[in-house]
Amino acid sequence: MFWNKISGIYDFVENTFNGKVNREITQYVASLTNEDDDILECACGTGMFTLPIARRCKSLIATDFADRMLAQAQKKCRHLPNVIFKKADITKLSYADESFDKVVAANVIHLLDNPSKAMSELWRVCRKGGVIIIPTYINKSTKSASLAAKAFNMLGAGLKREFDDKSYHEFFEQMGYAVSEYHTADGRMPCCAAIIRKN
Ligand SMILES: C[S@@+](CC[C@H](N)C(=O)[O-])C[C@H]1O[C@@H](n2cnc3c(N)ncnc32)[C@H](O)[C@@H]1O
Repeated sequence: MFWNKISGIYDFVENTFNGKVNREITQYVASLTNEDDDILECACGTGMFTLPIARRCKSLIATDFADRMLAQAQKKCRHLPNVIFKKADITKLSYADESFDKVVAANVIHLLDNPSKAMSELWRVCRKGGVIIIPTYINKSTKSASLAAKAFNMLGAGLKREFDDKSYHEFFEQMGYAVSEYHTADGRMPCCAAIIRKN
């Protein structure tokens, strides 16, 4: 699988090509969490968001369907006792309804054949009053981002859609989710976090 194959170089590529954006968006997402939160992270990859979130929250279950990405994340967070790692497909979660205060799914929604299935799973496992946080690279918004996405895709990333600001907003509207706020970290490959409150 593509993600297992690139697990060893993912951080190097991300840090080299898009370090500024990644630092800003991960810190922003972490700032939305607090010490009382039980959190689920889907598609955690090598743990780019996992580490800053785990440093702040009560408990974190970090999941991904690629074993080797999970192994990298686990290594990164080995000193943190409040995070556990599980293999899970974002479209078929085994957690009970309303289990988590915050649910995070970063840089994965554009890779999925069936994003609405993933969205309904994220919604289902989020508690009433909780928050779903979906940061995604908006790679159509700059030329270098678009080229990088094309290169990534040629290697086998399997992008199913490419967003810019407008199409990212429309994506949620069309699925019937009211996004209370968008926050974009600008840079080479901008990343936009959609914040959905489950009231
Ligand atoms: C671009 S990486 C993002 C990783 C991390 N969230 C980040 O922002 O650095 C995409 C990740 O999504 C995972 N993924 C793709 N489809 C998935 C699915 N259906 N269920 C769970 N994980 C999935 C891949 O294994 C990979 O680790």
